[in-house]
Amino acid sequence: MSAPFTIAIDGPAAAGKGTISKAVAAHFQMAHLDTGLLYRAVGAKVLQGADAVAAARSLVPSDLEDDTLRGQDVAQAASQVAVIGEVRAALLEFQRSFARRAGGAVLDGRDIGTVICPGAEAKLFVTASAEVRAKRRYDELVQRGQTADLDEVTADVKARDARDMARSEAPLKPADDAVLIDTSNQTIDEAVAAAIAAVNAKKG
Ligand code: DC
Repeated sequence: MSAPFTIAIDGPAAAGKGTISKAVAAHFQMAHLDTGLLYRAVGAKVLQGADAVAAARSLVPSDLEDDTLRGQDVAQAASQVAVIGEVRAALLEFQRSFARRAGGAVLDGRDIGTVICPGAEAKLFVTASAEVRAKRRYDELVQRGQTADLDEVTADVKARDARDMARSEAPLKPADDAVLIDTSNQTIDEAVAAAIAAVNAKKG
């Protein structure tokens, strides 16, 4: 078993974090955790009437496999429960122990490099302009057969950015030692290559 090696990948909604994280994890043969799913699973339970803190404390892995977690309403609910300190605290240990598993791990989210794994061996901050991110999210929704309106999706992305960056608990921001990757004018392949190169530079 190789020693733990944590790759923290943070950034705003629809910057390409998910795609890059999966590709990086596959390349280095590491486990991957999309931490947004934790907040989405809590958000989904709140939409069904549950208490946010109780939902976070009782989360089980199968809660993360629900297909409805991808929707816009769940995304907004996730961003709302994510401002609650007790929700974040309840999800902390699961993320930290995942990060230190043998063989290494890739975690993507908003606060991985700053709060969850400040000692991560490699940190990336993946971003893109709000317009580019909204267009990508819109295309994704349309591709999945959902009805979407570009102006609405843009407003949603901006509202979520504002809430994620302004909150006092673990706000979205790059760690001081994160490598910035702006995917606004990059293809997926280019962005993945840049991410792998940045990790290799840390592996030495
Ligand atoms: O990455 P995502 O879009 O699935 O995340 C949904 C919401 O969850 C996001 O708007 C803010 C919150 N979140 C967070 O606060 N911290 C994380 N590490 C991941 C997500």
